[in-house]
Amino acid sequence: MAFTCVVGLQWGDEAKGKIVDVLTPKHPFVVRFNGGANAGHTVKFEGKTFKLSILPTGILCPTATAVVGNGVVVYPPRILEELKQLTEGGVDALPRLKISTSAHVILPYHFEQERLSETGKGSGEAIGTTGRGIGPCYEDKAGRRWAIRMVDLLDEAALHQKLIPIVERKNRLFKALDPNAKQFDAAELAREFAGYGNILRENICDTQALMGECSDSRVGVLFEAAQGSLLDLDHGSFPYVTSSNSSAAGIWSGSGFPARKLDTTYGIVKAYTTRVGGGPMPTELLDGPEGIGEKIRQVGREFGTVTGRPRRVGWLDAVALKHTARLNDADVLCLMLLDVLSGHPELKIAVGYEIDGKPYSGFPSDAAILARCNPVYETLPGWSEDITGARKPSDLPQAALNYIRRVSELVGRPVAVASVGPDRAQTIWMNGGEGA
Ligand code: IMP
Repeated sequence: MAFTCVVGLQWGDEAKGKIVDVLTPKHPFVVRFNGGANAGHTVKFEGKTFKLSILPTGILCPTATAVVGNGVVVYPPRILEELKQLTEGGVDALPRLKISTSAHVILPYHFEQERLSETGKGSGEAIGTTGRGIGPCYEDKAGRRWAIRMVDLLDEAALHQKLIPIVERKNRLFKALDPNAKQFDAAELAREFAGYGNILRENICDTQALMGECSDSRVGVLFEAAQGSLLDLDHGSFPYVTSSNSSAAGIWSGSGFPARKLDTTYGIVKAYTTRVGGGPMPTELLDGPEGIGEKIRQVGREFGTVTGRPRRVGWLDAVALKHTARLNDADVLCLMLLDVLSGHPELKIAVGYEIDGKPYSGFPSDAAILARCNPVYETLPGWSEDITGARKPSDLPQAALNYIRRVSELVGRPVAVASVGPDRAQTIWMNGGEGA
């Protein structure tokens, strides 16, 4: 059995869920190891649509055990809402869910903390976050003395004692930043969150030990990275990033699984680039309502699943991809939403960056430098055909095959999959049979 990772190589929303869906039946365990409910996935299963953001999408597969690892930040009401959605859709997920005792808990004060920092009441500029309390919860994790973990929800009295000084501090801090800020009550929070602990008691367990057992016994595990590698806290376009390791670098710390044992890493790439929220994006198309960027946004339905915000759209950026493919050691690429590029006479790919007319080598880790990078483009012929009906490489027009080949050359990794639509059948395996 295989140990497999599916990871986004751009700024998130690369359609990772589709590849996870194909690979899950081959893996008894599917694991989320980073982020929280900031990752929106709309998943179709047996004709029904589910909107998941915290549960691994692989939970839809009836044979899979879904693990929410220690690196994830959990807002328990959201987990319960998603479980309810699944039950109503005929998916019995609760017995197949394991949540790490060490996963940190998002509490209502984290939402207020995020509101204050994103509206300029805290310090600095807005990041353009999803408003799901993710960053403030990770701040408390790193701060240690203000953190609540899933294990703490199992004992109301002890939880209350822990929350008293935390809530007192938060209330004072919030009031100082904004006299109208919300205030919180430790006893109320303890009651509410211990209630969630009671409902999930059987699911909260030592998932790090479980991962160790899978590793020792070679029981297959599929890791679902949330967001994309360019949003990785350490390796992305800092500070316009998320607050966890959204590349494969997060697997080891965020699940306890020894990541050097991974067999295959699938690097998921959209055939163009999108980004939600603030921060530089060198290949962004700012060509107005009649422009190519808007056309791609409409055809690709590029609007955020969690926030509904229109996504920023641009040409494929091979400089950024080279950086993330190497960082994740992606064995293969999956080129998603290729059909969205149909109908453009020419397509561009950024093959280098320049600052003030001089070549800049590599992908800068600092947003201020990235903002100064101008892309150097290579132009390729486009194709006019609708390719959504293609099922094998030979069904694709030569220009689409050339585009795929050029992406592979520029990034230095083989393209295993070209996706030409949302359905499972619209998945072209470039070298025959399915992977993993
Ligand atoms: P946060 O993760 O809510 O703190 O947001 C930090 C940055 O990451 C913002 O620019 C968000 O738009 C972006 N972000 C977070 N999650 C996702 C995702 O799943 N897809 C795309 N962008 C995301």
